[in-house]
Amino acid sequence: MKKIVITRKINPNMIEKLKKDFEVVVWNENEQPMPREHFLEETKDAHGVMTMLSDKVDREMLENAQNLKVVANLAVGFDNIDLEAARANEVVITNTPDVLTETTAELAFTLMLTAARRVLEANRELMAGEWSGWSPYHMAGTDVFGKTVGIFGMGSIGAAFARRLSGFRAKVLYHNRSRSEVGESMGAELVSFEDLLAESDFVLCAAPLTGETKHRFDKEAFNQMKESAYFINIGRGAHVVEDDLAEAVRKGDIKGAALDVYENEPIGRDHPFIGIDNMTLLPHIGSASVDTRNNMMNLCVNNIMEVLNGGKPITPVQ
Ligand code: DGY
Repeated sequence: MKKIVITRKINPNMIEKLKKDFEVVVWNENEQPMPREHFLEETKDAHGVMTMLSDKVDREMLENAQNLKVVANLAVGFDNIDLEAARANEVVITNTPDVLTETTAELAFTLMLTAARRVLEANRELMAGEWSGWSPYHMAGTDVFGKTVGIFGMGSIGAAFARRLSGFRAKVLYHNRSRSEVGESMGAELVSFEDLLAESDFVLCAAPLTGETKHRFDKEAFNQMKESAYFINIGRGAHVVEDDLAEAVRKGDIKGAALDVYENEPIGRDHPFIGIDNMTLLPHIGSASVDTRNNMMNLCVNNIMEVLNGGKPITPVQ
C-alpha cells in the first residue's frame, strides 16, 4: 500500500477519504509542527506528503524520500519548497490557488480598515478602562474611501482586493512583472514601483516571494512612501526588511503598518514590531476561515490521489 504523510492535524473526513486506498500517517498536532527528524524519518518511504508552509521541503528531504511522487502544500505560497530539487527528483509539487483567494483578500481588507480606523488601538484603550469620553479627534483615523491604493503583485488575491476597492471609489494603482488584464478591467493602472510607493495612501503587498521580491520593502522603499501612508502585507514576511519597517513606523516616515506575515514565524514578544502602537499585527491567518481551510485540505487530498493513481495533478506548481 502506498504511504501518505500528513504533517499536521487536519479534518478527519479527509483522512478517511485517503485511508480507503492508502496507508496514512498523520502528525496529529494542531499547533506544533512535525519535528524535522520525524519528518525526514516518516517521509523516507512515503509516496505522497501533505505539507504546511512551516515544513522545509528541501534537497535533503527530497533526496531522502526515494519513493516520493507528490508533495501537496497546504498554501498558495510555496517558498518553503526547493522547486529545482523537486524537479531533479521528479516530485510533483502542488499548491492551493483560487480556493483561498476571496478569504485572503477579505483579510487584507480587514487589515487595511483596522489600521486606517485605529480599531485595535481604540479597543485596547477601552479594554484597559482608559476611555475618558467622546471628543472631536478622539481616535480619529484615516478614510479609505476616495484614496489611492497601490497593489504590489496583481495576482488573483490582488485582483480580488481591487474588486473590493471599487465600493470605496478608490483610485487603484498596481505594480507587477506583467500587465494584468483582470486588474485593468477593474480600473487599476500599472505603474513603476517608485510611483506606486510615492502616490499611494495604502500600499498592499500581495506578491509571491521570489528572489526578485525578497526584501523589496526596505528603508529606501519606506522613505519613498508618504508620511501619511500605510503599508499592508499579506504576502510573506521576507518581502520586508523588518528592522527598516519598525524604524519607519517609529520615526513617522510612514503612518503605520498592518501585517499578517513575518520573516521568521511565529514571532515572540522580543520582535521589533511588538509594542509599536501603529502596527496592526495578525498571526498569519490570511486564508483561515473554516470553509476555506477545508477546501484547501480537500484540494491537497485530491492532488495526492490524482498523482498517486497515475493521473494529472489538479493544481501543479509550474
Ligand atoms: C498561503 O496560502 O500562502 C497563505 O499564506 C496561507 O495562509
